[in-house]
Amino acid sequence: MLEIAKLSKSFAGFRAVSEVSLTVATRQIAAVIGPNGAGKSTLFNLISGHLQPDAGTVRLDGRDITGVAPHRICRMGVGRSFQRTNIFPKLTVFENLQAAFLVHHGQGLNFWGRSEPFYREEVAALLASIGLRGQERTLAGTLSYGNQKQLELGLALASDPRILLLDEPTAGMSATETDETIHLLERIAGERELTLLFTEHDMEVVFSIAQKITVLHQGRVIADGAPDAVRDDAEVRRVYLGHGLVRGE
Ligand SMILES: Nc1ncnc2c1ncn2[C@@H]1O[C@H](COP(=O)(O)OP(=O)(O)O)[C@@H](O)[C@H]1O
Ligand SMILES: [Mg+2]
Repeated sequence: MLEIAKLSKSFAGFRAVSEVSLTVATRQIAAVIGPNGAGKSTLFNLISGHLQPDAGTVRLDGRDITGVAPHRICRMGVGRSFQRTNIFPKLTVFENLQAAFLVHHGQGLNFWGRSEPFYREEVAALLASIGLRGQERTLAGTLSYGNQKQLELGLALASDPRILLLDEPTAGMSATETDETIHLLERIAGERELTLLFTEHDMEVVFSIAQKITVLHQGRVIADGAPDAVRDDAEVRRVYLGHGLVRGE
């Protein structure tokens, strides 16, 4: 479904992403891991069109989407969440999700008009699906951190994606919130027949749900394959030495 070939991106001469190639099959759950600064967020921004690569290609369903604008890539079925939350804190949960539906359907935002009736049912269904039912009137900025991340997932789902790019979906979460989020992701991916590509620092999470793992180090792919093979890879172990690739080590 997603095919990345020799993708590179430099910032002022510094190679943040260097000739990265990877593929994700339809309905696969794939992870990109690597130490801080390895180039994970940059790679996601290159895929979603938020950054332009210096070289290389991104293909979706065989079609070259390299350098296409983010909103067009989104329309092609690529949803994403960001490492830092991008909800509107002063709008309610309902209004945040409604805004996402309005934007996706090209109706724009009209905070001053009466947009209340629009997408009421769609928002209600999404609220139930992301586990935020009963919170529709809550100001998004006052939600717990974990609930804000759930809302962010809802915002990404409002565009009805086929593939979801998630940049550290459990960053900053407690162990309980992390657990809940992972179960939520698995359930939603199953229900909606989604393909997932995510980055994650928590190795327990990675090894519990990823079917395929790509390891980045200093912008390059150092390993790519099935979780067991990646876990046993000598280069990966060297990079993660002392960081505990698997909890308990
Ligand atoms: N907009 C930018 N301008 C300059 N350097 C950047 C920019 N974005 C990322 N970098 C650098 O590129 C490298 C990779 O960053 P990033 O993709 O955020 O890594 P990760 O998400 O794996 O932690 C880091 O050294 C970072 O400082
Ligand atoms: Mg990052």
